[in-house]
Amino acid sequence: MTDHLDKTAVDIHDPLFVRDPYPVYDRLREQFPVVHSDLYGGFWLLTRYEDVKQAATNWRTYTSSVPGVTAIPVITPRTEPQLPIETDPPLHSRYRALVNPVFSSQRMDAMRPRVRTIATSLIDRLVEQGHGDLVADYAVPLSVDTLAEFTGLPKADSGRWVSWIGRMFNVRDRADGALASREFGLYIDELIAARRNDPTDDFLSLLIASTVEGHRLTDEELHAFCTVVFGAGFETTADALSVMLYWLAGHPDDRRRLIAEPHLTSTAVEEFLRFSTPIQIFGRNAAVDTELHGQPIRKMDVVALGFGSANHDPAVFPQPGTCVLDRGPNPHLAFGAGPHRCLGAPVARLELQITLEEFGRRIPDYAVAPDAMVDWKTRGDRRGLRSLPVIIRSRAGTA
Ligand code: HEM
Repeated sequence: MTDHLDKTAVDIHDPLFVRDPYPVYDRLREQFPVVHSDLYGGFWLLTRYEDVKQAATNWRTYTSSVPGVTAIPVITPRTEPQLPIETDPPLHSRYRALVNPVFSSQRMDAMRPRVRTIATSLIDRLVEQGHGDLVADYAVPLSVDTLAEFTGLPKADSGRWVSWIGRMFNVRDRADGALASREFGLYIDELIAARRNDPTDDFLSLLIASTVEGHRLTDEELHAFCTVVFGAGFETTADALSVMLYWLAGHPDDRRRLIAEPHLTSTAVEEFLRFSTPIQIFGRNAAVDTELHGQPIRKMDVVALGFGSANHDPAVFPQPGTCVLDRGPNPHLAFGAGPHRCLGAPVARLELQITLEEFGRRIPDYAVAPDAMVDWKTRGDRRGLRSLPVIIRSRAGTA
């Protein structure tokens, strides 16, 4: 794809591109930093770090307040915005202020032992088996169970909501995606009704008790919040975990270094977030006619922010294709930038950090299973693995 790059038909979901988008990004960044693709209804793609960061921050020029535009292509056309992600300041700031306390450091501290318990019980099973799929047997259940703990989503239903969310984000079968979206919507409505009748101390109950601009949130607003938090909360984290564990499977020196120098855990977590960038691309609309690098962008044009490309921009990150465990500074955009910077970042960081610590202690040596196919996801705006079969070569004593 790099040799015969057709700028007007950059296909972010092409299987070859999805497998390794970085050679294409390198070329675009260098030669065509603002490119228009006619595919998927047409969109501009920004690939340089500074442009992506500016666009994410500058909501007056690049608005988020057009329902559905964050996904390219729009999977389920909607008229109601998802909250808080499909609003601009000042309304966005008010919604955001309402949910910020739910992600407080006190709540994170309380979560830490619970996430560790989930991680260690999954690791116990892997150690016992001596092999496993680190996506199905670790990354997905860790992020799903953590989200359930954090939000109060019933764990018993996790199979159902994981399946709905997977189908909702499947760009290849959009009719099924729309159906899944409706089914998930009905489920959320039932949950809202249940919490209104019988509040707990979970995310949804906290939202029900909150007010914005002096009024309680309506069922529609609650629904719009839940769709984002439940939908955004586990797949991205599972993707980051899967790419991190894949890198470490192939880089025993890095595994050993993290065990010998545990103080590197926090810089390593940031580096794995940069390297994987689970949300590679996120959409905006031009709010006004504008121009970037000589390209005229018209009001209402779709503009794709290339977070993945930005995080591999050599102008900001030397050796962008390598995980440098002690990289610093590391101003990555994996969680976005500006007003919509990820709300759940502390939850994701917690899971990655605990995974590094517990794998170091319990599974210091593992490798991709011989002859196994490592299966990447099929959407170019997301980056993560669908399966990661490994063998565990040595076992450390249980804690
Ligand atoms: C590694 C995991 C994650 C990554 C890479 C990620 C990435 C992102 C990005 C790039 C944005 C900004 C979107 C934009 O610019 O419009 C965002 C926003 C958001 N994320 Fe995450 N996210 C992750 C985990 C989570 C988790 C665990 C939760 C919830 C528990 C969550 C909830 C949200 C919400 C609610 C927003 C919207 C914030 C707003 O509009 O103000 N995310 N995330």
